[in-house]
Formats: sequence, C-alpha cells, structure tokens
Amino acid sequence: MPGVILKSLSKRYGDVGAVDGLSLEVKPGELLALLGPSGCGKTTTLRLVAGFLAPEAGEIWVGDRCLSSPASVVPPERRRMAMIFQSYALWPHMTVAQNVAYGLRFKPGLSRGDREARVREMLRVVQLAGYERRYPGELSGGQQQRVAVARALVVEPEILLLDEPLSNLDANLREEMRFEIRRLHETFGNTTLYVTHDQGEAMVISDRIAVLKAGKVAQAGTADDLYHRPRTRFVAEFIGRTNVLDGVAVARDTVAHGHLRLRVATADLEPGARVALSIRPHQLRLGEPGAAAGGANAFRGTVRRAAFLGDSVDYEIAVADSDLVLRAAAAPTPRFEVGAAVGLRIEPAACVPLAESDPR
Ligand SMILES: Nc1ncnc2c1ncn2[C@@H]1O[C@H](COP(=O)(O)OP(=O)(O)OP(=O)(O)O)[C@@H](O)[C@H]1O
Ligand SMILES: [Mg+2]
Repeated sequence: MPGVILKSLSKRYGDVGAVDGLSLEVKPGELLALLGPSGCGKTTTLRLVAGFLAPEAGEIWVGDRCLSSPASVVPPERRRMAMIFQSYALWPHMTVAQNVAYGLRFKPGLSRGDREARVREMLRVVQLAGYERRYPGELSGGQQQRVAVARALVVEPEILLLDEPLSNLDANLREEMRFEIRRLHETFGNTTLYVTHDQGEAMVISDRIAVLKAGKVAQAGTADDLYHRPRTRFVAEFIGRTNVLDGVAVARDTVAHGHLRLRVATADLEPGARVALSIRPHQLRLGEPGAAAGGANAFRGTVRRAAFLGDSVDYEIAVADSDLVLRAAAAPTPRFEVGAAVGLRIEPAACVPLAESDPR
C-alpha cells in the first residue's frame, strides 16, 4: 500500500490561489483528514490528487510514481484511486448491485461470476446484504452512502479520496457513520484522504489531521497534537474551544497581560516579544477564592455566566484586576453561582504560546 506525497502544489482560478504551495505527506495505510473552513482549498486538493485537475506548480507522488507535475498528468483512470463525492453520485436507474458492479467496469479479466462474488462480498462488508435489487431511491441516506463506499472499495483502489461524504446526513446518522468509516478503514487499510470541515468528524475518523488555511497546511498532526500543541491562533481556535490571550514576554517563561503574569512550561520565549497564549477551558481549575492563593498562575475572579450542560458546567469567569473574561469547563460539583468569587489556577503546561502569524 503506497503513501501519497504532495510537494509545493499550486492551483489558481483567476486571481484566487485555491491551492497555494501546499505540501503534505499521507503515510502508507494512513487515513488523513483535510480539515479547514469553506473555500480553503480542500476539494481542489482532492481533485488535484485524483487527476481531475492539473497543478500549475508542484508534484504529486504515489509511492515511487510521479502522477502530476506541470509537465505531465496521469489521467484519473490510470491512478488506482477511487473518489467518493459529497453527492454520492449513484445511478438512480441502476439497482444497488448494479451500482456497485459499475465500479468494476474498467477491470478486465473478471468473469461474470467473479464480479458477482465481489459485489456480494462488498455489500456484506458494508452491511447491505439483501439490498442488491433495491434502487437508490428506495434507500435511506446512510444506506446510499454505504453503496457509494462499496462502489469505491470494490475496485480495490490503492488510494481512497472522500469529499465530505457525510455532509448530506442528519446529525445522528452522521455520528454513526463516522464509526462505520473508521471500521471500514481498519478492515481495508487503504491510504485515504478524507475532506471535512467538521473538526469532531476529523478527530473521530482520522489517524492524523492536516488543517488547511488559504490553500496551505497550517499544521498537521494527530488530533491530540493539534488540540494540546497548536502552533498558531488559527489552529488553536479551529480545533476545539479555547481562550486566547495576548501578552508580552517579560521573561523566558513568563507572559504579561496587563497586571497579570502567566508562567508557561517552555522557557524559550524572547523577552519583549508579543506572545499569544492558548488555554483550553477544561484546563482552568476553579476553587474557593482562598484556595488559589500563592503558586504560579493563581488568580481571583468572579463568575459572570454559568450554563449547566449535564456532565459539565460552562463558565465565564471575569479575572480580577484585568479585562480578561475566560471560558472554563468544570465538573458540575462543586457548583459556583453567577456573582460568586472564585479562585482560578492554570498549570503552566496548559498555557501554550502561539506564533504571532501563520506560516507563509
Ligand atoms: N471551478 C472554479 N472556478 C473558480 N474558482 C473556483 C473553482 N473551484 C473552486 N474555486 C475557488 O477556489 C477556492 C477553493 O475552493 P475549494 O472548492 O477547494 O474549497 P473547499 O475547501 O472545498 O470549500 P468547501 O468547504 O466550501 O467545500 C475558493 O475560493 C473557490 O471559490
Ligand atoms: Mg469542498
């Protein structure tokens, strides 16, 4: 199973640099999610990989084959890839079995019996055995989605490309299908590029995530990496909730925001430099006002707002002697009411310095 390497890919539409010097490696057998806001170049990247578009600069490699460069582009049908579009694109006049068999139309040398056996086996894997003779119009959204997956996998592609395959489904089904796609990936192990703008989906389904911004990779890593060690404000705010506070380094391990001093765990800040810190809401420790006295990053505050969410409480805490209002997510007990004075503690390791700007 080969991997995919994208080297400084660029594709423009008129004045728009849809993909702008994008570099990325998908390891063999890995499911990598391309995550980013609308218009950041996810679909364009996928179409470049599939060979529907030619890059103006850069190269696409699969294993030791160069499939795209400005000089030459291998056509889609010779790429050993399968793509699943957002709309599924099932043939409405064909049955489920015929739709899946359609994927095999370019496979020479298969007897009719071989084809039928492959289709049957694939429908069993996606849990649609018994649906062979139905038409797409007689299936639920999730079942149609599974037919599209079966049609893509039946050709045994080396590379699987999926463009927001769950976006047409309602919220419950979408959650169920996340696990389904992960299970299929673990069964087949195709090298997979999975486009989504839903960070929860990316976190559940993928081995690694590449966060895209304006046609470039802002940061790539595991969900854990991106959540706990975001490098830029954009990534910190795109993956989960966070508090970002702007300050100035006053020592190699200390950031000042007004009168507040926040210690960070790393000791490589440049004194005098502007630094933004990301602090996740669940990393603020709330307690009685006296309990927080002394030690690093202990502050006092007042509860501005409290919303009970069942397994946690979402607080807004106004920090004393500052303009800061921080989001905190805490266990339901002990409970702090609106207006209550609280103590607030933040571990230095929970204060993650962010780069001032995104990589160019
Ligand atoms: N055929 C086209 N002609 C002109 N501009 C295009 C074309 N296709 C895409 N673009 C532009 O290129 C940029 C990237 O588009 P792309 O479809 O790759 O975004 P995306 O990340 O998939 O967004 P979404 O999440 O909305 O699907 C956008 O600014 C878009 O308007
Ligand atoms: Mg798109």
